[in-house]
Amino acid sequence: MKNKNIIPKISVVETLLDTPEMLKSPVVVFEKYRKKLGPTFRFRFGIRDTIVTADPELLKHVLKDNNDNYHKSHIQTERFVEFQGVGLTNSHGDYWLRQRKLLSMGFTRGRLAEILPIQLEVLHDFLKTFDQATEKGIVDIHEQMVKFTLLTVGKSLFGKQMKEEELEKFAAAIADIQRYIVKKVVQPYLMPWFYLTGQDKKYHKVREEGDQIIIDYIEERRKKPGEGSDILELILSTPFKGTNEFMSDEKVKVEILQLLVAGNETSTTAATWTFYIIAKHPECLQTIRQEIEETFGEEEVNYSRLHSLKYTIAVLDEAMRMYPPFWMIDREAQVDDEFNGMKIPKGTTVIPYIYGVHHNAEYWKDPEKFDPFRFLGESGDKIHPFAHIPFGGGPRVCIGQNMAKMQVLLVMSAIVRAYDFELTDKKELGLHAMMLLKPDGPVNMKFHRIRN
Ligand code: HEM
Repeated sequence: MKNKNIIPKISVVETLLDTPEMLKSPVVVFEKYRKKLGPTFRFRFGIRDTIVTADPELLKHVLKDNNDNYHKSHIQTERFVEFQGVGLTNSHGDYWLRQRKLLSMGFTRGRLAEILPIQLEVLHDFLKTFDQATEKGIVDIHEQMVKFTLLTVGKSLFGKQMKEEELEKFAAAIADIQRYIVKKVVQPYLMPWFYLTGQDKKYHKVREEGDQIIIDYIEERRKKPGEGSDILELILSTPFKGTNEFMSDEKVKVEILQLLVAGNETSTTAATWTFYIIAKHPECLQTIRQEIEETFGEEEVNYSRLHSLKYTIAVLDEAMRMYPPFWMIDREAQVDDEFNGMKIPKGTTVIPYIYGVHHNAEYWKDPEKFDPFRFLGESGDKIHPFAHIPFGGGPRVCIGQNMAKMQVLLVMSAIVRAYDFELTDKKELGLHAMMLLKPDGPVNMKFHRIRN
């Protein structure tokens, strides 16, 4: 009989044999281990003992009940800090709390209602070019969502004056740097080589150029305060709670950069998978359309009634259950800990395995089946709060989750209202999991306009 207090371990040999697959798509390997050993298992990653868990109770312990003991891992606090600076996503303790309190004010319901007109303006412009693309033929919805979310997140943060070309240049710099960081994480032994061959220098230059775009923009906004309802304006004009002290320009730069990094590709990925799922289920497309029509009639979608789209929101929740953009996150135990008799020694990397818990059959009936109704009515009430965590959980839960949902709902509503659509290739898409869980190829679709 299995001893529940001992976390099953993958042997070093098996881990080594799985390395090529791990480099290609780690989620495939993690799923193999989870199915073989259960929701919580251990393996050795480089020199570190690593615990992976898809058990909602242990997830609650790590992310919420004892979250002080579980800091972001060395990958975040070393590799990411090198390029992104210290900000909300990779700081801890009092510093994190102070930044979190201030930045949270940018994402309140009231604030989001003020940001909606910026997002609608982006949506209108986007729909014009989208329509032209659909008329030309097959459209890769992922490519379209890349454009849409960069502009919505970018302009919600920086304001509508921010130029499209600058946002694109900036996003390209972020993508380049992220690829480089992943290289350093996967091949840490090549670090001296990266340094000697000038790659470190090259990517720091890319970062400096990107930084300069934000610095110039902040300086300009300082000269013309009160120009807009975007998040930058809020950060520049709000003192820290209980003080008259404002965030320095340097810190503003870091936080805005981190928000863009955290909010851009994640939303793109969520929107892409959602369209993929809808296209695979034509009955779902019809139900969403009916709900949107009943809720808004001929009116434009507005913020106050967006929350009434219960079925549509359930489809988004189900898409993010099946394909969570962050398929895993990472933590590191600061001191020895114990959970239900399981020992978690200081220094252990703990991986909250989001994809795993979303597919854990103990908590989800037929986890591979698409069924938005699991989020509705009584079944929705019964979901364990840590069995569905696309936005993480506990005090570090995603600060931008309502904004992300708002923009995906906006683009879904607009496209579902105006088009029927279908996948051009009926084959299942594969999973490409690195930092985010993306489709392993283009998501090609045909769109047929049904109304103007
Ligand atoms: C569908 C889109 C999104 C998904 C799936 C997502 C997912 C997540 C997850 C899983 C975390 C927790 C990370 C951890 O605990 O290690 C997180 C944190 C965070 N997210 Fe999001 N996110 C999305 C959109 C956004 C947007 C639009 C923004 C802002 C513009 C944003 C800003 C942040 C920030 C700043 C944090 C760190 C919070 C902290 O540590 O206090 N995210 N997100």
